[in-house]
Parts: sequence; C-alpha cells; structure tokens
Amino acid sequence: MEKKTFYITTPIYYPSDKLHIGHAYCTVATDVIARYKRLCGYDVMFLTGTDEHGQKIEEKAKAAGMTPQQFVDNIVTGPKGILDLWKLMNISNDRFIRTTDDYHVKSIQRIFRKMYDNGDIYKGAYKGMYCTPCESFWTESQLVDGKCPDCGREVHYAEEEAYFFRLSKYAKPVQDLLETGTFLEPATRVNEMINNFIKPGLEDLCVSRTSFKWGIPVDFDENHVVYVWVDALSNYITALGYLNDKYDDFDKYWPADVHVVGKEIVRFHSIIWPAILMSLGIPVPKKVYGHGWLVIDGGKMSKSKGNVVDPYVLSEKFGVDALRFFLMRTFPFGSDGNFSNELLINTINMDLANDLGNLVSRTTAMVEKYFGGTLPAERETAEADEELVGLIRSTRDAYAVHMDALHPHFALEEVFKLIQRANKYIDETTPWVLAKDEAKKARLATVMYNLLEALRVALTMLLPFMPESCEKAFEQIGARGEDRSWDNANRYGVLPCDVAVHKGETLFPRLDVDKAIAELEEMHRASSEPPAKPVLPDVTIDEFAKCDMRVCKVLTCEAVKKSDKLLKFTLDDGSGKPRQILSGIHKFYEPEQLVGKTVVAILNLPPRKMMGQDSNGMLLSAVKEVNGKEELHLMILDDSVPAGAQLC
Ligand code: ME8
Repeated sequence: MEKKTFYITTPIYYPSDKLHIGHAYCTVATDVIARYKRLCGYDVMFLTGTDEHGQKIEEKAKAAGMTPQQFVDNIVTGPKGILDLWKLMNISNDRFIRTTDDYHVKSIQRIFRKMYDNGDIYKGAYKGMYCTPCESFWTESQLVDGKCPDCGREVHYAEEEAYFFRLSKYAKPVQDLLETGTFLEPATRVNEMINNFIKPGLEDLCVSRTSFKWGIPVDFDENHVVYVWVDALSNYITALGYLNDKYDDFDKYWPADVHVVGKEIVRFHSIIWPAILMSLGIPVPKKVYGHGWLVIDGGKMSKSKGNVVDPYVLSEKFGVDALRFFLMRTFPFGSDGNFSNELLINTINMDLANDLGNLVSRTTAMVEKYFGGTLPAERETAEADEELVGLIRSTRDAYAVHMDALHPHFALEEVFKLIQRANKYIDETTPWVLAKDEAKKARLATVMYNLLEALRVALTMLLPFMPESCEKAFEQIGARGEDRSWDNANRYGVLPCDVAVHKGETLFPRLDVDKAIAELEEMHRASSEPPAKPVLPDVTIDEFAKCDMRVCKVLTCEAVKKSDKLLKFTLDDGSGKPRQILSGIHKFYEPEQLVGKTVVAILNLPPRKMMGQDSNGMLLSAVKEVNGKEELHLMILDDSVPAGAQLC
C-alpha cells in the first residue's frame, strides 16, 4: 500500500544578517511536526527556503557595496547563514528553495502570465502609502496612526504604473474558506482576517513594481518586476515542480497539509495566497497555522532594539536538543511566549535534568546495581503497576491528538505525565527495599521492566523533539530498532524480558542557575559583535592606482557653524598651496585635538559643497561598530612622515 503523504512548509526566510531564536522557533516547530509525521509512517515533504528579492535587499546590498546576488548568497550560504542555522538546529527539511533559483524564476513568470491571460491581472497605476521595510502598499484606512499597520514604521506616498491582481473578485470565496473553521487556525485569527481585511472591502492588489530592479521580471513587460509576495508565496508550488521541469511532485503532495507561518504573515497566507491559487485553478492548502511570536519583555526581538537572542550561543551552552525542547515545551504554539534565560534554564533543570534525565539514570543505575545490567526473566506483577502500565498504553493516543492539532506543547504535557508517574512509581515501589530481600527478586525485576517500558514509550514520543538525545537514551535502556517504532508506542511488553541496559553519560546535567545566566550573558556580549564585513569584489591594481591618497599636515581645524557633524580643515598637502577639506567627524573629535596632526586624504575626488563651503577631497578614517556603537578613528600617522607623501 502506498504511504499517505504529508506536505508541510515553513515560510521562506528573508536573508537576515542577525538570525535569532524567534526565527528558529517557527522552523523547529515545523521540524517537530514533520518528524512526528514520518514517525507515524507518512511520506513527508518538508519544505523551507529563502525569500531573496525586493527593494529592501537591493538597498542593503548597495549599502554593503555588493550586488544583490552576492549579498543574498553570503547570508544564505555563508558562515552562520540560514543554511548553517538549520544544520545547527537539526532541521530535517526535504527540500530548500531559494527564490533566486532559476526554475522558480521561470515558474513565477509563467504563473504571472497565466493569471494575466485569464484576465485576473490588468495594468493600472498605483497611488498609495508604501512601507519600504514590509514592501507593502497600504490604503489610508488601513494605516494605524498614520503608520504601517504591520510594523508601525513610517510610510510614504508612492505612485507607479503597475499590474493589479483582481483580489476583490475573490473576497467571497476567500471569506467562505476562512469560515470553514478548519482552513485557518488558531480560530482567533479567522475573525481578525474577516473583520480587518475582508469586511472593509478587499481591494485589488498591486502585483508589479517599476521603482526597483531586484525581482523577477514580468516576461512580457520587462520594466516591471513581480511583487515580492506573489514571488514568495508561490514557492510552495514551484518547489514541487509547478510550471517547471525541475521537480515532478506537484500531483503527489499538493494541496499542502499545512503552511506553518508567524502571525504577522497570516494575512498573506490566508487571503492573498488562496486567491492566487483560485485564479490559477489550483486547490487551496488544507490549513494555514499562524503561530505566536517569541518576545522579550513583551516586545518583539529585533536587531535595532539590540535584544536578539542568539541560537548559536544557546545551543553551544545547553545543546541543540535542550533548546528545541524548551521552545516547544514552554510556549503554547498559537500564542506569544516571553523568552528569558531563567525560564530556559529552569525548564532544562525541571523537565530534562530532574524528570527525564533522572528517570533514565536512576533506572539504568538500578538495573546495573541489582542485576549486573541484564534483567532476569522472572516477573511478579502487583496492583501498584496498573496505573503506570495503563499510561504506557494510553499516552501515545492522547499525544497524537495534540500533535495532529499542531499543539506540541500539550502533547509534551502528556509525555511528562507519564514520566512523572514513573518517577513516583519508584518512590512507591521502593526498589532499594526490594533489593534487600532475595525472595523479592522477581518483583524487583518487574518494577525495573515497567520503568524501562515507560521510558521506551516516552522516548519514542520525544524523538521528534530531541532526536539525538533520544537515540542515546534508547541505547542506554537497551531498546532495539523495532522497539522504538510508533506502532509499539501504545503497547506494553515490547522490550525483551532479559533486556540489557548500558548506563552512559548523563544526558541533561543540572545547571547552576546564577552561574549559567552569567556565562550566557558573557557569551551573548561576545557574539553580538557584528560579523566581519565580507571583502568587496576585486578591483585591479590600475583601478586602485587611480585614487590619489597623500599625507597631509593639519594647519587649521574648526567646527562648521550650524552643523553638529562637520569640521573644516586647512591642510598642507605638499603642493605649497593650502587645501580645504570638510569632514563629518565632529562627533568623534574636537578641532583643537587635530591641529598639527599628520593625516591621510584622497585628493582627486570631485570637489563638493557642504553647508555652502568647498571640500576638495576626503580624509581617511577607520570605522567599525563595537558593542552596537559606531567607532571612528581618523588615520593619524607619525609626525615624521612628510606632507605630500603618496600612499601606494
Ligand atoms: O516573513 N518569534 O520572512 P521572515 C516567532 N519572507 N517567530 C518569528 C519571530 C519571533 N520573534 N521573528 C520572526 C517573512 N519569526 C517572509 C515570508 S513566506 C511565503 C514569506 C518568524 O524572515 C516569522 O513570523 O521575516 C515568520 O514566520 C518567519 O520567522 C520568517 O520571517
């Protein structure tokens, strides 16, 4: 019989140079569900990727002195880039799509043309308020206090010739879809979509841009690039081979079983995306799940606030499995969760060190101590076993209900009821007392066996959350390959009667809270140093030689009136004629500090006027961000270097 398929996706990520634990949250959750479905026997397709086009990327690349392609390559495939992060977090995606991949580009052009040909895309002019960071046009009525309703930042008026998608035509079918109650979850998000976006009237959507170039060109009108959200959302079908030859899995996996997305992009996934699919005549996904954010002190993590939590630091300190577990155990998936180091450390101590870790180490230690590591076959059951054995048989199904509903938090709750019950069972059965009486050997063996069975079942359910630690723990309790299967996770009596344990390393050592927090803070401080800027593309020696850089002596230096940045220099550049240069370094130096100093200037830049004054060249400085602050050091040389000496 063919396996049932399960297609699950994360959003495709913007190339960000500061990936934080909030980014990892969404992908870890999706990975946990994908692993769970594989464990249950599904043929899973788990897709993730990167969303690489748009004005923002074009601007950032320019600021970094790179082409947009160099810029995105560096962030996606470079050190500590997105691919590295997913490797670190043990993400088991089956496919990775980049929107700059050739096959995706071709598919998008065909998708756009198909919608144009069927009359759903038409040419018009866009006038409206535009939020550059979100790449979204907004109507006046959608703005909140005159600002972008998504990110709260400034918007500006913009106007351009553009293609439009007849989104308005799909308002009714999209509303019907939302009202099915199963398409968008959690349910609270449904009302938000209907009341905030559909009821006020769904307007046609601007789906092309002419004001920048870094996007997929509309192939029948090359001045236009396709709106980044049409490009991005379509990844979910292009990655299966829709309108391209790269893959051939569309019929097998589409419609997606679930798109897992953060709450701020639910609007795109539950309104625009189904409308695009309806226009293309393709079934809509079965579900969109909008999860909450990881926040710090109630606010979003962001590079500009300087409060991002580095997943590399956390996993180096606590291990990837503990981090994955913490993210899923602590916060209900649909709601926001307030991250703190204390919470992380306490969760590790309580659930992993005390409850799970202790159960593994106590049980294996007792089997070694009382039976030399291998249980005898004799058994003696008692009434005291019933509750635990009942839980061994029933927990899997309770867990599955929650996992299928995308509530990993509640699923873990069920597993920990079993683990805690097993720990209590040790206290109730007092194996150390049984061990003193030779006649109680069979009873003691039964108690040990029940504990190992409880662990086997719990570890099977924890496997999607902590794949590596569970494998190690399975080894320790003597579970063979087939003992670890999903089918055996609701059965009692699966481990062999004479199971042999192998007590190994402590899986989750207990942490000293204060010490761990102090260490973490120090590690975070060190890791928040910005990464070294990548080296710019090559220049030839001839190009370099065109810059005329010379040593100059500062004759006079004064602040420019009405400017808090500019200093005006008169310099001896060795030519015998004084040279005037203006430099925006007043924030870093007072004029009297610089008179008489030996500095370096480029002389052959075109003359500029600054605050009405001439500037003939530029002083060289060294600039770097340190602890979140820009530092500038003027290049000051030894006084023995003569004026006019040339840099080469
Ligand atoms: O939105 N807590 O990409 P993205 C939880 N390219 N989740 C968070 C988070 C936090 N603090 N910060 C970010 C995009 N995320 C688009 C998607 S899909 C066709 C295009 C989540 O890199 C965020 O909610 O800004 C989103 O689900 C994911 O990280 C990627 O965000």
